[in-house]
Amino acid sequence: MWGEVATLPLVPRVVDAVAPTPVVAAGGIGDGRGLAAVLALGASAGWLGTRFVMAAEAPALPRYRELLAAAVETSTVHSSLFDIGWPNAPHRTLRNSTVKAWEAADRPPSGARPGEGETVATWVDGDPIPRYATTSARIGVTGDIEALSLWAGQSVGLVDRVRPAGEIVRELAEEAASALQASVRMIRP
Ligand SMILES: Cc1cc2nc3c(=O)[nH]c(=O)nc-3n(C[C@H](O)[C@H](O)[C@H](O)COP(=O)(O)O)c2cc1C
Repeated sequence: MWGEVATLPLVPRVVDAVAPTPVVAAGGIGDGRGLAAVLALGASAGWLGTRFVMAAEAPALPRYRELLAAAVETSTVHSSLFDIGWPNAPHRTLRNSTVKAWEAADRPPSGARPGEGETVATWVDGDPIPRYATTSARIGVTGDIEALSLWAGQSVGLVDRVRPAGEIVRELAEEAASALQASVRMIRP
């Protein structure tokens, strides 16, 4: 489902609508506190995207990771801009040079955007990657990495360094358990 309702009001509505089907909540969860929040909303699990781009095992390019580490929650934009390969699919990306040039041109429609048709990067086999392609900044791609579709959620402000996925998962579980225990103590001291 594509929509613009934030995770906090969306999850309990979906949980109620589909009960007893388990719900996996996604969008804006960056650490164990966010995981605790969606579990409190009735979700059975949390799904983290941006956080795992920073997992050591993920095939993300170092430049992409640097930009994610430097970004904050206001650094992203929700649009349908990167549509070559997957049209009409709203998504959230970092506000990079491609997004800024499109915004500066008053957000023209697909086909009339700045630099339309330009090649910004290439695959390892030489295949060109045009500006506005959905291709992610992954190992095997070279060129103007900053100009590619740099997928990022609003959770990006909570994401700062590359760590093994197992370490991230263990920390998420510990943080979520502590956050839920602290919440109970606040309600019933
Ligand atoms: C690098 C990356 C690639 C993604 N690719 C897809 C995709 O192909 N299809 C999709 O529905 N969502 C995709 N997403 C969205 C995630 O599945 C997830 O819903 C979102 O990242 C959750 O928000 P968060 O990044 O704040 O954790 C992608 C997210 C990232 C960061």
